Amino acid sequence: MASILVIGSGLGGLLAAVRAADAGHHVVLVTKSVLPESNTRYAQGGIAAALFRDDSVDAHVLDTLRAGAGLCEPAAVRVLCEEGPARVRDLIRFGVDFDRDESGVARGLEAAHSRSRVVHAGGDATGAAVEAALVATVRRRASIDVREHTMLVDLVVDGGIVGGARVLGPDNVQRSVEADAVILATGGAGALYTHTTNPSVATGDGVAAAYRAGADVADLEFYQFHPTALAVPGTPLVSEAVRGEGAVLRNLLADRFMLAEHPDAELAPRDVVARAIARQMERQGGAPVRLDATALGRELLETRFPTITTACRAAGLDWAIEAIPVAPAAHYWMGGVATDTWARTSLPGLFAVGEVARTGAHGANRLASNSLLEAAVFADRAVRALGQPWPAGATRTANRPHPPVEFSASSIHGLPDETAIKLPSADANTLVDRPALQQLLWDLAGVHRSGGGLATAAALLAEWTAPEHTSTSVAALEDRNLLGLGRLLVAAALARKESRGAHYRSDFPEPRPELARSVSQTRHDQPLP
Ligand code: SIN
Repeated sequence: MASILVIGSGLGGLLAAVRAADAGHHVVLVTKSVLPESNTRYAQGGIAAALFRDDSVDAHVLDTLRAGAGLCEPAAVRVLCEEGPARVRDLIRFGVDFDRDESGVARGLEAAHSRSRVVHAGGDATGAAVEAALVATVRRRASIDVREHTMLVDLVVDGGIVGGARVLGPDNVQRSVEADAVILATGGAGALYTHTTNPSVATGDGVAAAYRAGADVADLEFYQFHPTALAVPGTPLVSEAVRGEGAVLRNLLADRFMLAEHPDAELAPRDVVARAIARQMERQGGAPVRLDATALGRELLETRFPTITTACRAAGLDWAIEAIPVAPAAHYWMGGVATDTWARTSLPGLFAVGEVARTGAHGANRLASNSLLEAAVFADRAVRALGQPWPAGATRTANRPHPPVEFSASSIHGLPDETAIKLPSADANTLVDRPALQQLLWDLAGVHRSGGGLATAAALLAEWTAPEHTSTSVAALEDRNLLGLGRLLVAAALARKESRGAHYRSDFPEPRPELARSVSQTRHDQPLP
């Protein structure tokens, strides 16, 4: 039996902890906030899986590959779609009460799915239901040592093998936790951007620590922007399932602008809808577009979407009678720590599951409601792979076709399309300023990008310094991670001289077939503080 350190308490971390404990391992589960706080908790739409008679694994595979814009790892997609139904049934056994209708488990339709296959719970509170069931399951396992308010600082690597982590505890002391294997499940990094659907804990701690420890990361240029966050403080998500039920998008002239953008209109792939909304917003002086769900009727809106109804009410909106303001927001990072199909990273002893990982299942653009599924499938696989030999080069599916990127101010070349953007100033050798970093990435590495803007972002990011790794402040350690990840994301976006999936560059507006490959980055290219 081994000692396993699980870091993070979303679906991936909780499920890995339960599975590992049930397999007889000694499990320590650390999480930065309280156990139920995670990105999982805020997921609305649901979980996509080929569970119904009119569906098939092949159809789910095809939809996932199409959305991924040529960058998916086919083996990872197949594993995801084949093992997904069994993992959804596991969640039911753990107590997730998926919504039902007259035909059995109810299902919704979301963008880029060829059929309805998204199961949901509590209407639009799927993540909260999954999180609650798994938190209760973890709490019932006395053998899982749960440590809340404990943040990952760095991984401990000895002789090239991960043997634990340094963490910052609730007593503001850094200490080491030894383990035979570490399962990273720290989620994404919505805090890189001004507008995000993520909770504030999503600061990319796992990706940053894994990179500093020497693990390969890949696809960091691919950040998914959800098209419809409610344009009020806190940017609550307005699930794609609302458009799946028939809601439409309108500009300020009340035109249904998506009809002219894509044959699937409001149900076009997420990146297409997000960019179309951003363009409309530019045309209307930055004002959000409107999501018109009034035709769905009050009863359906309130029963199927109670979370969104509550968010609208809190903002003084009644979406049964008025169209609501929506705008894109950073939602999900397709890139992350590169793994093989058993969640193994390039560093022996280190697994990564959920949003922190880049399994290749999402490619350049994640298919809606595949994220909880991915976390469940690969958390299960990580535990099954514990104790197995670590194959050399298992994650080397991501290759590096581009030359390294220079990060000096001299790499700024002409700013014809950025002159209108008000740039934050980053004075040399000053500590990173989080709101300024978020605004910089939002403006220059967000929904729309260009080579000039990205070079400007790289130069400004290079001027800030990071807080010390010995800090005992959670915020300072998060800032250290965000600065490092911002640099890596911008480097990857500069290197990808094309548009593909969620990565759109106005200076290279089309995909280039010869670049349909992942880019991985290692600390040998660019060390992080
Ligand atoms: C949504 O409900 O629109 C989000 C689902 C997802 O991100 O997969």
